[in-house]
Amino acid sequence: MKPYVSILMVTSVDGRLHPSRFTSSPDGTRRDWSTQYEKVHASLRADAWLVGRVTMAEMSKAAAHAPSKPAAVRRPIHVAKTDAATFAVALDRSGKIHFERGEVSGDHVIVLLGKDVPDSHLAELAADGVSYVVAEKSDIDLSSMLDVLAREFGIKHLVVEGGAATNGTLLAAGLVDELRVLVAPAVDGGENVQGIVAYGDGLAGRVRMQFKSVDALDHGVVQLCYSVLPAET
Ligand SMILES: NC(=O)c1ccc[n+]([C@@H]2O[C@H](COP(=O)([O-])OP(=O)(O)OC[C@H]3O[C@@H](n4cnc5c(N)ncnc54)[C@H](OP(=O)(O)O)[C@@H]3O)[C@@H](O)[C@H]2O)c1
Repeated sequence: MKPYVSILMVTSVDGRLHPSRFTSSPDGTRRDWSTQYEKVHASLRADAWLVGRVTMAEMSKAAAHAPSKPAAVRRPIHVAKTDAATFAVALDRSGKIHFERGEVSGDHVIVLLGKDVPDSHLAELAADGVSYVVAEKSDIDLSSMLDVLAREFGIKHLVVEGGAATNGTLLAAGLVDELRVLVAPAVDGGENVQGIVAYGDGLAGRVRMQFKSVDALDHGVVQLCYSVLPAET
C-alpha cells in the first residue's frame, strides 16, 4: 500500500514557484517564510520527503565520480542503510544527480531511477551510501515506486516538495492525498514564470480539490490545505 502523500509548497499570491523573485513585504522576509515552511514540514511528522531532479540538484551539487573499476551492482533495489528513520527521495530518471554521502539534510537518500541508468552510476550511488530503486521501464511507474517505498523502506507519510513538474506528475497519476500551500504576502508578476504545479496542457478532468482548512501563520503567511480527490467519472 502506498504512503499517504502530501504536497507542501510555498508560493506567492499569484501562485508562482521562485521565492527569490517575490516582492518584499512589511510582514516578513523570504527567510521568515522559509522558516514557516520548515515549521509546517516538521509539524507533519512525515518519515520522508520527495523532490524532482531539478530541485535535488540544487541541494546536492557533487560532480560525477563513478568508481574507476567496474563493480557488481544490485538491481532493482539497493538498500544502503537498514536502520534509517527518515528519508530524502529524489526522482532522477537518467541518473544525473551525484551525492557526496548518503544523507541530505540529515535524511537518508533514496534515488528513484529509470531502467536505462548505467551500472557505473548505480555503483557510484552504492559507494556513496545512497539507496536506490530502478524502475522496470525507462519511464518511472510512480504508483509502483510508492508501493516499493512503503514496503522496502517502511515509509508511511511522504511529503512531496516540488518542483512544479514533480507535483504535476504525481497529481496527474492520482497519487496525492492532500495539497498544502503556504501563501506568502507577495506577488511575482513576471510573465512565463513557473507556477507551483505544471503538467502538459493541464490537470482539468484529472483531479479535484476539496477545501480542508485555512490557518494564518506568522509573517503574513496563510496555509491553505485541500484534499485531493480523483476526477469525477
Ligand atoms: N516554492 C517552493 O516551495 C519550491 C519547492 C521546491 C522546488 N522549488 C523550485 O522548483 C524549481 C524546479 O522545479 P521543476 O518543475 O523545474 O523541476 P523538478 O520538479 O524539481 O524536477 C523535474 C525533473 O524531475 C524528474 N521527474 C519529474 N517527474 C518525473 C517522473 N514522473 N518520472 C521520471 N522523472 C521525473 C525529471 O527529470 P529528468 O529531466 O532528468 O527526466 C524532471 O525534469 C527549482 O527552481 C526549485 O527551487 C520551489
